[in-house]
Amino acid sequence: RQMEKAGHKHFMAKEIHEQPQTLADVIAAYTDGDRIVPPAAYDWAATDRVQMVACGTAQIACSVAKYWFESLARLPVDVDIASEYRYREGPVGADNTALFVSQSGETADTLAALRYAKGKARAILAVVNVAESTIARDSDVVFPIHAGVEVGVASTKAFVNQLAVLLSLAIHAGVQRGLIDATREAELVAGFRALPGLISSALAIEDRCEALASRLAEASDILFLGRGPMYPMAHEGALKLKEISYIHAEAYASGELKHGPIALVDKTLPVVVFAPMDAIFDKTISNMQEVMARDGQVLLVTDAQGAAQASDGVWEVLTMPRVDPIFAPIVYAVPAQLLAYHTAVQKGTDVDQPRNLAKSVTVE
Ligand code: G6P
Repeated sequence: RQMEKAGHKHFMAKEIHEQPQTLADVIAAYTDGDRIVPPAAYDWAATDRVQMVACGTAQIACSVAKYWFESLARLPVDVDIASEYRYREGPVGADNTALFVSQSGETADTLAALRYAKGKARAILAVVNVAESTIARDSDVVFPIHAGVEVGVASTKAFVNQLAVLLSLAIHAGVQRGLIDATREAELVAGFRALPGLISSALAIEDRCEALASRLAEASDILFLGRGPMYPMAHEGALKLKEISYIHAEAYASGELKHGPIALVDKTLPVVVFAPMDAIFDKTISNMQEVMARDGQVLLVTDAQGAAQASDGVWEVLTMPRVDPIFAPIVYAVPAQLLAYHTAVQKGTDVDQPRNLAKSVTVE
C-alpha cells in the first residue's frame, strides 16, 4: 500500500497533493475554448428554483454553490441535509430542479431524498464521482466530477471537484438565463484555467500548517469563522478537523459571532478566520477584532493584501495566493484540509480511517 500512497504518509496527503491535477481534469471536461460546456445538457432557463440535497462534505459543497447560483444565475437555491429532507415532506414545485451531490453515489439518505423528489421536480440532477453508482443511475442528468478514486475517509479532492462542477453549472446557468455575456464567460473560463496553478501555490502553506499544528493539537475547541461563501468553508474546516483530529470544532458565520459563540472566547481558544480580500473583507475583520479584544488566538487565513491590512495583533497569518473572490472557496479548501491533516498527524490519529466513520454510509 505504501507504493499506492506515492511517497506520502497517508492517502489523504496524496489526495490533497493530487488536487492541481484532478482539478485540471474536471476543468478540461467542463470547458471548451472560451466557453463552459458541461458534459450533459440541462436547460437552466426553464427552472425557477434549485433544491440541493447531500450529506457531509458534499452538503457543504452545496452550501457554497448556493452563493454562486444565486449571484451568477439569480436562481434561488435551498440546501438540505438528506436525512432531514427525506422525511420533511417539503413542497417540490413542478418547475423546481432537484440536485443531489454525492462522492460515492451510494449514500442511503441522499438516495432516499432523491426518490422523494423524483416525479415531483422538473428534473433530477446528480453530481457524482462514481459514474456507475445508484444515485447516478436514478438521475435524469449526471455531472461527473472526475476526481478519480478517493481513499481517505475525509473527502478532499472530491470536494474541490464538486465545487468546480457546481461553479461551472452556476456560470452555465447564468449564461443561459442571459446574465453572463460571452466576454464575461471567457473571463470566468480563464479564471478556471488559472485555478490548478493557484492550488499549487496554496499548497506552499503546508510547512506553516505543520508548524501551527502543535499548538492546534493542544486545543480542546477550535472556532472557524467566515462570511459569504467563506461561511460554508468555515464549516468545511471545522468538519475536517473534527473528523480526523477528534478536536471539537465549530463553524460560525462571522456576523453571528456576537449572538452566542463570543461567550466562549478566551486565550485558550484558537479562532481560524477565512478572509480573502473581497467586498465583505472589512466586515469579517471587524468580527475578528471582536475576538482579539477578548484574547482569542486568531489564525487569519488571507492573501498578501489582506495580511498587510489586518494582521496586527493576530496570533498567526497563513498567506494565500490572491484569487478572484468567485473562485476563493476552491482555493481556501487547501488550508481547511492542511490544518486538519497536520493537526491529526500531530495527534497521531488514524488519518485515513478515523474512528467511527465510514467512507460511504449505505445504511440509514
Ligand atoms: C461520509 C463520509 C464523508 C462524506 C459523506 C457523504 O460521512 O465520511 O466524507 O462527505 O459520507 O458521502 P457521499 O459519498 O454521499 O458524498
